[in-house]
Formats: sequence, C-alpha cells, structure tokens
Amino acid sequence: MSCENNFFCLLTPEYSLLTARAAPSFLNMSIFDKEINRRNTNSYKWDKYPEEVLPVWVADMDFQAAPPILEALNKVTQHGVFGYSRCPDELYEVVIHRLALRHHWEIEKNWMVWLGGLVPALGLAIRAFTQVGEAVMTVTPVYHPFMIETEMADRELQKVPLRLEGERWTLDFEAIEAAITPNTKLFLLCNPHNPVGTMFTREELQQLHDICQRHDIIVCSDEIHCDLVLDDTKQHITYATLSPEAAQISLTLLAPSKTFNLAGLGCSLVVIPNDKLRAKFSRAKAGLMPMLSAYAYEAALAAYRDGAEWHAELLGYLKGNHDLLLKTVNQMKGVKMRSLEATYLAWIDIRDSGLTDVARRLEEAGVGVNDGSIFGQPGFIRLNFACTRATLEEVLKRMKTVFS
Ligand SMILES: Cc1ncc(COP(=O)(O)O)c(C=O)c1O
Repeated sequence: MSCENNFFCLLTPEYSLLTARAAPSFLNMSIFDKEINRRNTNSYKWDKYPEEVLPVWVADMDFQAAPPILEALNKVTQHGVFGYSRCPDELYEVVIHRLALRHHWEIEKNWMVWLGGLVPALGLAIRAFTQVGEAVMTVTPVYHPFMIETEMADRELQKVPLRLEGERWTLDFEAIEAAITPNTKLFLLCNPHNPVGTMFTREELQQLHDICQRHDIIVCSDEIHCDLVLDDTKQHITYATLSPEAAQISLTLLAPSKTFNLAGLGCSLVVIPNDKLRAKFSRAKAGLMPMLSAYAYEAALAAYRDGAEWHAELLGYLKGNHDLLLKTVNQMKGVKMRSLEATYLAWIDIRDSGLTDVARRLEEAGVGVNDGSIFGQPGFIRLNFACTRATLEEVLKRMKTVFS
C-alpha cells in the first residue's frame, strides 16, 4: 500500500503516534493497518530480501510499539544521559502484579534475573545445569536456537518428535520417557510452542513434570509467547505453577519482546524460584551479559504497566490475520494449516503439494518464509502473520501462484 493512499500517512506525526486510536473506529480501520516502511532501516527482517520480496519469516511484528512505550523511550532520549541503569523498582512490582493477575503465579522479587535476551538465557541454562557431554532434551520441531545452543555448548541433543493428535500437536510422553538416559539433565520446553502454536494443558504439563521429576531433570520453560493467546477458550499455564515441586526444578523465560514488539531493545527476564538453581544461573551469566539499558527497562515498564489496551487490540488484529490465513491457505493445493492456539507464527504443512524447495519457490514468487527444516521438520514452512492485513493479502495472492 503506497503512503499516498494511506490515511495514517496524512496525519501529523504527533497525531498518528498518540491519537491514531481515535481514527479506526469511524474508518473501521485498526492502528495495526498502518503501513510503516521498514526497508533500508537495517531491519533484520526486511533488509534480508530485495524490494520484490515480502518478508514473513523472523518473529518480529511490522507494527509500531504502543504509544506509552514510545513516550517512555522519548523521555529517555530527551534526558540524554546514557549511563548504566538498574531495574526500576516499579518494574519489579509491575511484573509481580502481572504474573499474579494473568498467570496466577506468586513470585518474589529476588527470583527475577534480568538479561538482554532469551536466546542467551537458553545458552546460559544449558551451561549452568549440564556438563559437557551431558544431554539436553527437547521436542521437535522447535525454535531452532534450542538445538543450536545445545550443540554449540557440546552437549548431547536429544530430540523427540511432537505427535499430531487429531489436529493438534502435542507431547509424546512414551517417546519422551523412552528417550531419557542417565545423561539427560535438562529439558527445554517451549510453551506456547514455536512453531506449532500449541498451548500445553495443565494435564500435559503435569505428565511432563512427573517424568522430569522422576528422572531428576531440570525444566527450562521458555514462555516468551505466553501473552499471545489466540484461542480465547484457552488459558496459558506456567509450568512453575503446577506445584511447589515444579517451581523448584524449573526456570521460566519471559519477556515483553514478542507481545509488545520490542525484540531489538533486549529486555528479558528469567524467573528462578530455587535459590541454588538461581545462584548457578547467575554464576554462568556473570561477566558475560551486559547491563540492560534505560531504554530496555523503561520500554518493559511502559509495556507491562500501560500496554493493556494496545495488547487487547493487537490480539484482535492477529486473530483476524490468523483466520484469513487459515481459510485462504487451506484452499491452496496440497497445503494444510492447522489452527493455532497461540503465537503469530503459522506452521504450514506443504508435504502434499508435490513441490520441492518450497521456500525458494515462494521467495521467487515474492514471499520470504522460514523453511521448516531449520526447526527440525522439512515439509513445512513457518509464516509470520504479524503484518498489516494488506501485506498478508498480498502474501496470500503470491502464495496462490506457487500452490495452484
Ligand atoms: C521461543 C522463543 N524463545 C526466544 C526467542 C528470542 O528471544 P530473544 O530475542 O530475547 O533472544 C524467540 C524468538 O522468536 C522465541 O520464539
């Protein structure tokens, strides 16, 4: 969509930034319809490809951050002094309140460890809780750093395939238990799951916990997508809330980065209730992770404290995109998408398309997706639908030329 045709481009920056919310109600548009040109901004997502390709791969959204976050960041810039920062007391309070309210999890301030990213947290957990040569287990397909970080640390990677039960991907407990060896020390869980979009139920998590507890396995539960629930009938269950025992053998990875589109700011949080595990994790982290910036902390604070309205509207928009994608993709030849419970990452089965090298073919048609093989499952593609509806419609038009 060109800027001349876009209502938001006609607004003054102040209006579009702070009061654009008023416009959609009478124009039946959403703030998330606003096209923002991300090309030539050194965007990891957009500047990977030439102009002809619409990128729908890496997990960041094409949406401007919520106005309260932009205001908070402006304040930091205007202050203009960029020395070392500490975590604001209010951010601790806001996180404690948020986790209690949204996830029924009562945590203590000293359980929180802040750091600049959750991929580093995966690497640190692997190093803190296993020795070289010991084994780390995960279920596949999975967000690829789960596997890469394990292998980079010279640990044995134990991969157990997820199981398709009806139309839902779930854990295969028999296969998990069968694959465990005395070497298995850590389980990397992704919940909600990237890329299959499953939110594991309390019963499923309890069954996994019973296995891990029986075999003395620590659980690293990456819950970065926990506030991106698309299915209103479902409630995210934090692994650590299963029982005091589950809290004692686990660490929970959280961040405002996916929900509020702040990935580039580097503000993440690991919650570790067990003192010994927390001490080990902190020791692994010491000296390797830079301090967080005022931008990171202030953005996180504004997001968690003042971002609820924006977040609710985001979820509505993402559901609309999800439903459009689901309906349209499933009309394409040899293509199957299953409804997601959470995340904005569609996991699309192209095994019946009869085509090889599908990601390359799509790229030639002007659509940049992730090939499923990087997540450990060839025959699938991952498509990020956190883009404007207009971009998604264009992506779907281009996809039809490949799957026709
Ligand atoms: C499950 C999961 N964990 C971690 C990350 C990335 O975390 P960070 O950007 O904080 O390193 C992602 C990004 O997509 C993810 O999907």
